[in-house]
This record gives sequence, C-alpha cells and structure tokens, in this order.
Amino acid sequence: MYRAHPKDGIAWITGASSGIGRAVALELSRRGYTVAATARRQTELDALTAESPNIFPFPGDVTDRPAMAGLADAIEAEHGPIALAFLNAGVYFADEANQFSSDIIWHTFEINVGGTVNCLDPVLAAMKRYGRGQIAINASIAGFGGIEGSAGYGSTKAALIYMAEALKLTYEQAGITLQIVNPGFVHSDMTAQNNFKMPLIMDAGRAAKIICDGFAKGGFEITFPRRLAYFFKAVCLLPYPLYFRQMRRFAKREPLPDE
Ligand SMILES: NC(=O)c1ccc[n+]([C@@H]2O[C@H](COP(=O)([O-])OP(=O)(O)OC[C@H]3O[C@@H](n4cnc5c(N)ncnc54)[C@H](OP(=O)(O)O)[C@@H]3O)[C@@H](O)[C@H]2O)c1
Repeated sequence: MYRAHPKDGIAWITGASSGIGRAVALELSRRGYTVAATARRQTELDALTAESPNIFPFPGDVTDRPAMAGLADAIEAEHGPIALAFLNAGVYFADEANQFSSDIIWHTFEINVGGTVNCLDPVLAAMKRYGRGQIAINASIAGFGGIEGSAGYGSTKAALIYMAEALKLTYEQAGITLQIVNPGFVHSDMTAQNNFKMPLIMDAGRAAKIICDGFAKGGFEITFPRRLAYFFKAVCLLPYPLYFRQMRRFAKREPLPDE
C-alpha cells in the first residue's frame, strides 16, 4: 500500500480555511509537506498561509467542476505531483433538524458529495498517470447509521464512506491508496452551531494529529475518538428495533456508556 511522503509531491487539502482542514494543513506543513489549501474564503486562506511558508492558497468552490479540474492542474504546474489529497470540504446546516427541506438536502449533497467527486476526478486521473497517490476523504461517524436530525448531512457522509470503499477496491491495484476519515465531534465553525451535548468533543489540533498519523500509517479507516466510533459501530450491528431504541436514547442526549 502506497503512503505519501513529502518528497513525493504536494498535499492538496480542500476546506482548508477553518476547522479540521486548516489544522491538518498546519500539521502536514510541520511534517515537511508543501500544502495547497483550497476553500472559498480568501481572507481565511491568507491568514492560514501567513502561518507557514509551505502552505499556498488555491482558492475555489468545490461545487465548480471545471474550476476544480483547473485548480488541480495549476497546483501540479506550480508545485509538481499531488501525492496526497485530503478531500475535506463539507457543510452541515443545523436547520435541517427542524424541517425536511429539499433545498437544504440538495445543497448539502452538492457540496459534500458533488464537491468531493469534482476533486476526485482530476486527482484520480493524475495519480493513475504517476502510478501512485494517496487520497483521504473526510466523512463522519454520522455516516455509520441514521441519526435523528441529520437525514441530509448523515446520508452524504454514508455516500462518501461507500464511495471510498468502492474506490479502494478499484484503484488499489493502480497503486492509489484510498482512506476514509470518520471523526466524532471536533470543535469547529460547523459544530459551533450545535446546541446539544457533543460527547467526547476534541479540539481541531488534536484531531489533525490523529488524522496525519493515520495518513502515515495507511490503514483504510481513520476514526476517532475510538470509544464513540466503536460504540456507534456496535449499535449499527443491532437488529433495527434495538438500533432505533439506542438512537432515540442518543438523540435525547442521555450519557453514553462509559461517559
Ligand atoms: N467538526 C466535526 O465535529 C466533524 C465531525 C465529522 C466530520 N466532519 C467533517 O469535517 C469536514 C470539515 O468540517 P469542520 O468541522 O472543520 O467545519 P468548518 O470549520 O465549517 O470547515 C468547513 C470547510 O469546508 C469549506 N467549504 C465549505 N463549502 C465549500 C465549498 N463549496 N467549496 C470549497 N470549500 C468549502 C469551508 O471553507 P469556505 O467556507 O471558506 O469555503 C471550510 O474550510 C467536513 O466535511 C465535516 O463534515 C466534521
């Protein structure tokens, strides 16, 4: 299994202007990578690049398919091959918990799934040409099974988990390593809008270290905190009546086992 190294090329991170993506950009630059940072907000990207001489801004909207193809080309023209891609850009609209809105759900799919696909397209093509590369897609523990209030967001993350599994099987023979990142709760702009208790929430810097260690280790799934991830995975193995009973408890924000 190929694992990227800074001498092999640049790391491309989408959603690098805040939260997990920003922290991973800084952590990878500390580990010797040159990093191409993509997001829509130029001011936040400028603030990030000011923190490290190894991070370069490549602003863009992941929903713009031709723009993402052009961006991947521009990164490679300026900095050489993309050895590692962390496709992390994503959104959660807290309003989806209060209503069923096709607008919100389509918009969430457009960014979380469509945006990832738009970046996968040029990255897979380039990595196939080199015969190697490493791609990590940021999904979520929320993609493991249905959670009340998360019909749109959770189903985009379930789709990304499926996509990464399928792509791993297709591309491992071509020397391309696929990974899925399934975080629990991490402090970020996204979780700042949540008004419920978030068990075992951690800061983005700690999450970034776990994620970058996972890139270096190379297993398929990078999931944390383990206690929450394996609790949720175990609940997903239950027959549906028991699964729904557990998930109703979870939605009521009762303490989880061992908390
Ligand atoms: N925080 C958590 O607890 C948690 C848990 C599991 C998974 N995740 C996942 O982690 C990823 C990062 O989220 P976060 O928690 O770090 O939240 P965040 O701070 O809100 O970061 C989201 C990032 O995505 C970017 N983005 C959003 N729409 C975009 C678009 N159309 N084009 C380009 N970039 C776009 C944002 O940049 P701009 O607004 O500047 O474009 C921002 O950099 C998401 O995929 C999220 O689902 C988060």
